[in-house]
Amino acid sequence: MEFREVLIILKDDLNKLEASIKENFQSDVLLIPTISNYLSNGGKRIRPILLLTSSRLCGYNNGNKHITYSCVVEFIHTATLLHDDVLDEAEIRRGNPAANLRWGNGASVLVGDFLLSRSLTMMAEVKDPRIIFYFSDASRRMVEGEVMEMINPFNLNITEEEYIGIIKRKTASLISASCRVGAILGKSLSTEEDRLSNFGTEVGIAFQLVDDVFDYASEETKIGKEIGKDIRKGKVTLPLIHLYNNASQKDRKLIEDIVKTGDIQREDFNKIVDLMKRYHSIDYTMDKARGYIREAKERMSNFKGSLYLNAIFSVADYIVERDM
Ligand code: FPP
Ligand code: MG
Repeated sequence: MEFREVLIILKDDLNKLEASIKENFQSDVLLIPTISNYLSNGGKRIRPILLLTSSRLCGYNNGNKHITYSCVVEFIHTATLLHDDVLDEAEIRRGNPAANLRWGNGASVLVGDFLLSRSLTMMAEVKDPRIIFYFSDASRRMVEGEVMEMINPFNLNITEEEYIGIIKRKTASLISASCRVGAILGKSLSTEEDRLSNFGTEVGIAFQLVDDVFDYASEETKIGKEIGKDIRKGKVTLPLIHLYNNASQKDRKLIEDIVKTGDIQREDFNKIVDLMKRYHSIDYTMDKARGYIREAKERMSNFKGSLYLNAIFSVADYIVERDM
Protein backbone atom coordinates (compact mmCIF):
# COMPACT_ATOMS: atom_id res chain seq x y z
CA MET A 1 0.00 0.00 0.00
CA GLU A 2 1.24 3.50 -0.86
CA PHE A 3 1.43 6.12 1.89
CA ARG A 4 -1.10 8.30 0.04
CA GLU A 5 -3.58 5.41 0.25
CA VAL A 6 -3.13 5.41 4.03
CA LEU A 7 -4.14 9.07 3.99
CA ILE A 8 -7.25 8.13 1.98
CA ILE A 9 -8.24 5.33 4.38
CA LEU A 10 -7.81 7.71 7.33
CA LYS A 11 -9.37 10.71 5.57
CA ASP A 12 -12.38 11.09 7.91
CA ASP A 13 -10.26 10.65 11.03
CA LEU A 14 -7.63 13.10 9.76
CA ASN A 15 -10.28 15.71 8.94
CA LYS A 16 -11.68 15.32 12.45
CA LEU A 17 -8.15 15.62 13.84
CA GLU A 18 -7.57 18.94 12.04
CA ALA A 19 -10.87 20.27 13.45
CA SER A 20 -9.91 19.07 16.93
CA ILE A 21 -6.47 20.72 16.70
CA LYS A 22 -8.03 24.07 15.74
CA GLU A 23 -10.72 23.83 18.44
CA ASN A 24 -8.38 22.89 21.26
CA PHE A 25 -5.68 25.51 20.79
CA GLN A 26 -8.23 28.30 21.13
CA SER A 27 -7.67 30.90 23.82
CA ASP A 28 -8.84 34.46 24.42
CA VAL A 29 -5.14 35.31 24.62
CA LEU A 30 -4.88 35.69 20.88
CA LEU A 31 -1.14 35.24 20.50
CA ILE A 32 -1.62 31.60 21.55
CA PRO A 33 -3.95 30.50 18.71
CA THR A 34 -1.97 32.70 16.30
CA ILE A 35 1.32 30.89 16.96
CA SER A 36 -0.38 27.48 17.31
CA ASN A 37 -2.14 27.89 13.99
CA TYR A 38 1.03 29.18 12.33
CA LEU A 39 3.01 26.14 13.41
CA SER A 40 0.20 23.67 12.85
CA ASN A 41 0.38 24.13 9.07
CA GLY A 42 2.74 21.84 7.21
CA GLY A 43 3.10 19.09 9.83
CA LYS A 44 3.19 15.54 8.49
CA ARG A 45 1.02 14.24 11.38
CA ILE A 46 3.13 11.08 11.60
CA ARG A 47 2.39 10.47 15.29
CA PRO A 48 -1.40 10.88 14.94
CA ILE A 49 -1.35 8.71 11.81
CA LEU A 50 0.45 5.94 13.73
CA LEU A 51 -1.93 6.26 16.68
CA LEU A 52 -5.01 6.15 14.43
CA THR A 53 -3.72 3.20 12.39
CA SER A 54 -2.66 1.31 15.49
CA SER A 55 -6.08 1.82 17.11
CA ARG A 56 -7.88 0.60 13.98
CA LEU A 57 -5.48 -2.34 13.66
CA CYS A 58 -6.37 -3.34 17.22
CA GLY A 59 -10.09 -3.14 16.51
CA TYR A 60 -11.03 0.25 17.96
CA ASN A 61 -14.21 1.30 16.17
CA ASN A 62 -16.60 3.17 18.44
CA GLY A 63 -16.21 6.64 19.82
CA ASN A 64 -13.87 9.54 19.25
CA LYS A 65 -11.13 8.93 21.78
CA HIS A 66 -8.70 8.14 18.95
CA ILE A 67 -9.22 11.70 17.66
CA THR A 68 -8.73 13.21 21.13
CA TYR A 69 -5.48 11.31 21.68
CA SER A 70 -4.24 12.07 18.16
CA CYS A 71 -4.71 15.73 18.98
CA VAL A 72 -2.96 15.21 22.33
CA VAL A 73 0.09 13.63 20.71
CA GLU A 74 0.27 16.33 18.04
CA PHE A 75 0.10 19.01 20.77
CA ILE A 76 2.87 17.33 22.78
CA HIS A 77 4.95 17.04 19.61
CA THR A 78 4.33 20.68 18.66
CA ALA A 79 5.33 21.76 22.17
CA THR A 80 8.63 19.89 21.80
CA LEU A 81 9.25 21.55 18.42
CA LEU A 82 8.66 25.02 19.88
CA HIS A 83 11.05 24.29 22.73
CA ASP A 84 13.60 22.51 20.53
CA ASP A 85 13.73 25.40 18.07
CA VAL A 86 14.55 27.77 20.94
CA LEU A 87 17.37 25.48 22.08
CA ASP A 88 18.66 25.03 18.50
CA GLU A 89 18.17 28.71 17.57
CA ALA A 90 16.33 27.43 14.50
CA GLU A 91 15.46 29.81 11.71
CA ILE A 92 13.06 27.75 9.62
CA ARG A 93 10.42 25.18 10.63
CA ARG A 94 7.87 23.53 8.40
CA GLY A 95 8.88 25.79 5.54
CA ASN A 96 8.27 29.06 7.40
CA PRO A 97 10.40 31.31 9.61
CA ALA A 98 10.60 29.53 12.99
CA ALA A 99 8.25 30.87 15.71
CA ASN A 100 11.24 31.85 17.89
CA LEU A 101 12.52 34.03 15.06
CA ARG A 102 9.12 35.64 14.43
CA TRP A 103 7.78 36.04 17.96
CA GLY A 104 10.86 35.46 20.15
CA ASN A 105 12.02 32.73 22.51
CA GLY A 106 9.66 33.68 25.34
CA ALA A 107 6.53 33.37 23.21
CA SER A 108 7.74 30.05 21.78
CA VAL A 109 8.42 28.54 25.19
CA LEU A 110 5.09 29.72 26.58
CA VAL A 111 2.96 28.56 23.65
CA GLY A 112 4.74 25.20 23.94
CA ASP A 113 3.74 25.20 27.61
CA PHE A 114 0.16 26.05 26.64
CA LEU A 115 -0.05 23.11 24.22
CA LEU A 116 1.46 20.79 26.79
CA SER A 117 -1.01 21.97 29.44
CA ARG A 118 -3.88 21.63 26.99
CA SER A 119 -2.83 18.05 26.24
CA LEU A 120 -3.02 17.37 30.00
CA THR A 121 -6.55 18.75 30.38
CA MET A 122 -7.70 16.83 27.31
CA MET A 123 -6.36 13.60 28.81
CA ALA A 124 -7.89 14.43 32.20
CA GLU A 125 -11.31 14.70 30.52
CA VAL A 126 -11.09 11.13 29.15
CA LYS A 127 -9.65 9.79 32.43
CA ASP A 128 -7.57 6.85 31.28
CA PRO A 129 -4.71 6.71 33.81
CA ARG A 130 -2.61 4.31 31.71
CA ILE A 131 -2.70 6.62 28.70
CA ILE A 132 -1.87 9.62 30.90
CA PHE A 133 1.06 7.59 32.24
CA TYR A 134 2.43 6.61 28.83
CA PHE A 135 2.22 10.09 27.34
CA SER A 136 3.73 11.77 30.38
CA ASP A 137 6.45 9.14 30.63
CA ALA A 138 7.30 9.67 26.94
CA SER A 139 7.51 13.42 27.64
CA ARG A 140 9.92 12.74 30.51
CA ARG A 141 12.07 10.57 28.23
CA MET A 142 12.10 13.22 25.50
CA VAL A 143 13.37 15.80 27.96
CA GLU A 144 16.08 13.36 29.11
CA GLY A 145 17.14 12.74 25.50
CA GLU A 146 17.26 16.44 24.77
CA VAL A 147 19.35 17.11 27.91
CA MET A 148 21.74 14.26 27.01
CA GLU A 149 22.21 15.84 23.59
CA MET A 150 22.71 19.27 25.13
CA ILE A 151 25.50 18.12 27.45
CA ASN A 152 27.37 16.32 24.65
CA PRO A 153 28.12 19.10 22.15
CA PHE A 154 30.97 18.63 19.68
CA ASN A 155 31.71 15.20 21.16
CA LEU A 156 33.17 13.19 18.29
CA ASN A 157 33.94 10.31 20.63
CA ILE A 158 30.31 9.45 21.27
CA THR A 159 29.63 5.85 20.26
CA GLU A 160 26.91 4.69 17.92
CA GLU A 161 25.21 2.87 20.81
CA GLU A 162 25.23 6.00 22.95
CA TYR A 163 23.79 7.98 20.08
CA ILE A 164 21.00 5.46 19.44
CA GLY A 165 20.26 5.64 23.20
CA ILE A 166 19.79 9.40 22.93
CA ILE A 167 17.46 9.33 19.92
CA LYS A 168 15.48 6.48 21.45
CA ARG A 169 14.54 8.92 24.19
CA LYS A 170 14.48 12.15 22.23
CA THR A 171 12.39 10.98 19.27
CA ALA A 172 11.33 7.34 19.53
CA SER A 173 9.63 7.54 22.94
CA LEU A 174 6.67 9.64 21.73
CA ILE A 175 6.30 7.61 18.52
CA SER A 176 6.33 4.44 20.60
CA ALA A 177 3.69 5.88 22.97
CA SER A 178 1.51 6.80 19.97
CA CYS A 179 1.48 3.19 18.79
CA ARG A 180 0.88 1.87 22.31
CA VAL A 181 -2.01 4.24 22.96
CA GLY A 182 -3.67 3.04 19.73
CA ALA A 183 -3.35 -0.52 21.04
CA ILE A 184 -4.77 0.47 24.45
CA LEU A 185 -7.80 2.03 22.73
CA GLY A 186 -8.34 -1.23 20.86
CA LYS A 187 -8.26 -3.07 24.21
CA SER A 188 -5.43 -5.27 22.99
CA LEU A 189 -3.69 -8.02 24.89
CA SER A 190 -0.62 -6.73 26.73
CA THR A 191 1.63 -8.71 24.37
CA GLU A 192 0.16 -6.90 21.35
CA GLU A 193 0.45 -3.60 23.17
CA ASP A 194 4.14 -4.23 23.87
CA ARG A 195 4.71 -5.34 20.31
CA LEU A 196 3.23 -2.12 18.95
CA SER A 197 5.21 -0.08 21.45
CA ASN A 198 8.46 -1.74 20.32
CA PHE A 199 7.41 -1.30 16.70
CA GLY A 200 7.02 2.42 17.44
CA THR A 201 10.44 2.59 19.10
CA GLU A 202 12.15 1.10 16.05
CA VAL A 203 10.17 3.25 13.63
CA GLY A 204 11.04 6.28 15.79
CA ILE A 205 14.78 5.53 15.73
CA ALA A 206 14.59 5.15 11.94
CA PHE A 207 12.69 8.44 11.71
CA GLN A 208 15.44 10.34 13.54
CA LEU A 209 18.22 8.66 11.53
CA VAL A 210 16.57 9.82 8.30
CA ASP A 211 16.17 13.28 9.81
CA ASP A 212 19.91 13.22 10.60
CA VAL A 213 20.70 12.29 6.99
CA PHE A 214 18.52 15.12 5.65
CA ASP A 215 20.56 17.59 7.67
CA TYR A 216 23.55 16.73 5.42
CA ALA A 217 21.97 15.52 2.23
CA SER A 218 18.72 17.25 1.42
CA GLU A 219 17.46 20.70 0.50
CA GLU A 220 15.91 23.39 2.63
CA THR A 221 12.90 23.69 0.32
CA LYS A 222 12.19 19.98 0.63
CA ILE A 223 12.48 19.46 4.38
CA GLY A 224 11.28 22.93 5.38
CA LYS A 225 14.21 23.55 7.71
CA GLU A 226 17.86 24.50 7.42
CA ILE A 227 20.55 22.14 6.16
CA GLY A 228 23.82 21.82 8.06
CA LYS A 229 22.33 22.90 11.37
CA ASP A 230 23.41 19.82 13.34
CA ILE A 231 27.16 20.15 12.85
CA ARG A 232 27.02 23.93 13.28
CA LYS A 233 25.28 23.47 16.63
CA GLY A 234 27.70 20.71 17.66
CA LYS A 235 25.15 17.90 17.31
CA VAL A 236 27.14 14.80 16.48
CA THR A 237 24.70 12.47 14.72
CA LEU A 238 25.18 9.05 13.13
CA PRO A 239 26.46 10.17 9.69
CA LEU A 240 29.23 12.14 11.44
CA ILE A 241 29.94 9.39 13.98
CA HIS A 242 30.34 6.89 11.15
CA LEU A 243 32.54 9.26 9.17
CA TYR A 244 34.83 10.05 12.09
CA ASN A 245 35.18 6.38 13.06
CA ASN A 246 36.05 5.29 9.52
CA ALA A 247 38.14 8.19 8.20
CA SER A 248 41.89 8.07 7.68
CA GLN A 249 44.13 9.75 10.26
CA LYS A 250 44.47 12.80 8.01
CA ASP A 251 40.73 13.10 7.39
CA ARG A 252 39.99 12.67 11.10
CA LYS A 253 42.22 15.62 11.84
CA LEU A 254 40.38 17.68 9.19
CA ILE A 255 37.00 16.71 10.69
CA GLU A 256 38.19 17.63 14.20
CA ASP A 257 39.42 21.01 12.99
CA ILE A 258 36.16 21.78 11.18
CA VAL A 259 33.89 20.62 14.01
CA LYS A 260 35.90 22.55 16.61
CA THR A 261 35.62 25.88 14.76
CA GLY A 262 32.01 26.05 15.97
CA ASP A 263 30.83 28.50 13.34
CA ILE A 264 31.12 26.26 10.29
CA GLN A 265 31.02 27.98 6.91
CA ARG A 266 29.50 26.58 3.70
CA GLU A 267 32.86 25.53 2.23
CA ASP A 268 33.82 23.45 5.27
CA PHE A 269 30.34 21.97 5.46
CA ASN A 270 30.66 20.88 1.83
CA LYS A 271 34.01 19.25 2.66
CA ILE A 272 32.29 17.19 5.36
CA VAL A 273 29.49 16.21 2.97
CA ASP A 274 32.08 15.14 0.35
CA LEU A 275 33.88 13.04 2.95
CA MET A 276 30.56 11.46 3.93
CA LYS A 277 30.02 10.48 0.32
CA ARG A 278 33.54 9.07 0.07
CA TYR A 279 33.21 7.02 3.26
CA HIS A 280 29.56 6.03 2.55
CA SER A 281 28.36 7.51 5.84
CA ILE A 282 24.99 8.57 4.39
CA ASP A 283 24.43 5.10 2.90
CA TYR A 284 25.45 3.55 6.21
CA THR A 285 22.94 5.65 8.15
CA MET A 286 20.14 4.99 5.65
CA ASP A 287 20.90 1.25 5.78
CA LYS A 288 20.67 1.39 9.58
CA ALA A 289 17.31 3.17 9.32
CA ARG A 290 16.03 0.56 6.84
CA GLY A 291 17.25 -2.17 9.20
CA TYR A 292 15.18 -0.71 12.06
CA ILE A 293 12.10 -0.58 9.79
CA ARG A 294 12.68 -4.21 8.77
CA GLU A 295 12.91 -5.29 12.41
CA ALA A 296 9.87 -3.23 13.32
CA LYS A 297 7.81 -4.97 10.66
CA GLU A 298 9.15 -8.41 11.55
CA ARG A 299 8.01 -8.11 15.14
CA MET A 300 4.47 -7.56 13.90
CA SER A 301 4.30 -11.02 12.33
CA ASN A 302 1.85 -12.22 15.02
CA PHE A 303 -0.79 -9.77 13.80
CA LYS A 304 -3.28 -11.20 11.32
CA GLY A 305 -2.94 -9.73 7.83
CA SER A 306 -5.41 -6.87 7.39
CA LEU A 307 -5.97 -3.53 5.71
CA TYR A 308 -4.64 -1.72 8.78
CA LEU A 309 -1.58 -3.95 9.10
CA ASN A 310 -0.72 -3.03 5.49
CA ALA A 311 -1.40 0.60 6.37
CA ILE A 312 0.90 0.68 9.40
CA PHE A 313 3.64 -1.06 7.35
CA SER A 314 3.19 1.58 4.68
CA VAL A 315 3.68 4.33 7.29
CA ALA A 316 6.86 2.56 8.43
CA ASP A 317 8.16 2.39 4.83
CA TYR A 318 7.28 6.03 4.29
CA ILE A 319 9.52 6.99 7.23
CA VAL A 320 12.60 5.88 5.23
CA GLU A 321 11.35 6.67 1.73
CA ARG A 322 10.05 10.19 2.36
CA ASP A 323 11.85 13.21 1.00
CA MET A 324 10.52 15.66 3.60
C1 FPP B 1 13.96 17.46 17.49
O1 FPP B 1 15.27 17.05 17.30
C2 FPP B 1 13.60 17.36 18.95
C3 FPP B 1 12.93 16.36 19.55
C4 FPP B 1 12.50 15.18 18.79
C5 FPP B 1 12.62 16.37 21.00
C6 FPP B 1 12.52 17.71 21.62
C7 FPP B 1 12.22 17.63 23.09
C8 FPP B 1 12.29 18.65 23.94
C9 FPP B 1 12.67 20.03 23.52
C10 FPP B 1 11.95 18.44 25.36
C11 FPP B 1 10.70 19.21 25.72
C12 FPP B 1 9.64 18.26 25.99
C13 FPP B 1 8.32 18.58 26.15
C14 FPP B 1 7.40 17.54 26.59
C15 FPP B 1 7.77 19.94 25.87
P1 FPP B 1 16.19 17.75 16.22
O2 FPP B 1 16.60 19.07 16.71
O3 FPP B 1 17.25 16.79 15.86
O4 FPP B 1 15.20 17.85 14.98
P2 FPP B 1 14.90 19.09 14.06
O5 FPP B 1 15.90 18.99 12.96
O6 FPP B 1 13.51 18.83 13.53
O7 FPP B 1 15.00 20.33 14.86
MG1 MG C 1 16.12 20.98 16.33
